[in-house]
Amino acid sequence: MEKLKVAVIGTGGISASHLNGYEKNPNVEIYALCDLKEERVKRAAERYGVTRVYTDMHEMLKLSEIDAVSVCTWNSAHAECTIAALNAGKHVLCEKPMAMNAEEAQKMKEAAEKNGKLLMIGFVRRYGNDCDIMKDFIDKGYFGEIYYTKATYLRRKGNPGGWFGNKEFSGGGPLIDLGVHVIDLTRYLCGNPQPVSVFGATFTKLKDRKNIKTSAGYLSAEKSDNDICNVEDLATAMIRYDNGCVLSIEASFSLNIKKDEGKLEFFGTKAGAKLDPELEIYSEMNDYMTDIQLAAPTALSFDGLFEREINHFVDCIQNNVPCRAPAEDGIVLMKILDAIYESARTGHEVAIH
Ligand SMILES: NC(=O)c1ccc[n+]([C@@H]2O[C@H](COP(=O)([O-])OP(=O)(O)OC[C@H]3O[C@@H](n4cnc5c(N)ncnc54)[C@H](O)[C@@H]3O)[C@@H](O)[C@H]2O)c1
Repeated sequence: MEKLKVAVIGTGGISASHLNGYEKNPNVEIYALCDLKEERVKRAAERYGVTRVYTDMHEMLKLSEIDAVSVCTWNSAHAECTIAALNAGKHVLCEKPMAMNAEEAQKMKEAAEKNGKLLMIGFVRRYGNDCDIMKDFIDKGYFGEIYYTKATYLRRKGNPGGWFGNKEFSGGGPLIDLGVHVIDLTRYLCGNPQPVSVFGATFTKLKDRKNIKTSAGYLSAEKSDNDICNVEDLATAMIRYDNGCVLSIEASFSLNIKKDEGKLEFFGTKAGAKLDPELEIYSEMNDYMTDIQLAAPTALSFDGLFEREINHFVDCIQNNVPCRAPAEDGIVLMKILDAIYESARTGHEVAIH
């Protein structure tokens, strides 16, 4: 089989996860790289042995040999780069969040349809070992009807700085950056129900906590002392789906909490479960309440996570495998995020159509 020739737009932090995945896939050749910052793209080119190096994605996309592109730019460039790549006849894997809002996301999907190309969204948590296990239990009906879910992704001091705190480039704070992962994962696990309404609130109280002396561990490559911080530092919302299920979500960059936490909870008629980070199942046995843990490790492992996503993208293109994270799902997520921000702004519930 001829190797798939891929290119990457945006060679910052997350691009390494894409490039490592492509590098390990025997059916792929990393063909070209692009970043606005010459020094950054040259460093990546050296590391991955790539000779076609660009600072203008339009120039790179003229290469007819390129089959597929990963878009790993800051959020505000996702739509522009994705649409340009699709119009140039390339398949696209676009990082999360799909776009700045649902309107942009819709245009991206239309570009994919018009050009007959795949547009996959980087919902990487869908490829986690924890996701596979939960999905197995849910799909076999172990939990009965899941009517309530909770997702938290909280950082005590975790605004990465750089463009992440600047709404013009990010579109928002922890909701669009972190919340998107866990909203998508719970929705995916529950069979992708359609959202009907949300009630949300956002808070800009602690900002990026520049005063705190200990370092955070979540630092953008772009971080500087002059970073703008005009995004929320905490978001919370209730999302109601068309199957009656409700998701309660919390995401923060800055919060007075003891330690960072990432937790998913599912409450069903037959059993409940908490991924925190190991899976615990709450059920009944012989008319006693039971807490169950699997003997196998269940906490999310990052080992091989992005590789599974990249391999799936390649498989979809080369072998016509149905895409596990299609553009439609990205649009629904953006509709949810838009509605949460709108609800936070107005103080009212927002219906989603
Ligand atoms: N899936 C995940 O778990 C995960 C983790 C981190 C980041 N991300 C996402 O990946 C994206 C990038 O994040 P990052 O941490 O790598 O950011 P980053 O700042 O390290 O890298 C972004 C790069 O994009 C480049 N860029 C921006 N616009 C461009 C354009 N028009 N043409 C060429 N290059 C351009 C910038 O110069 C920069 O080098 C974001 O959308 C982020 O939400 C996803």
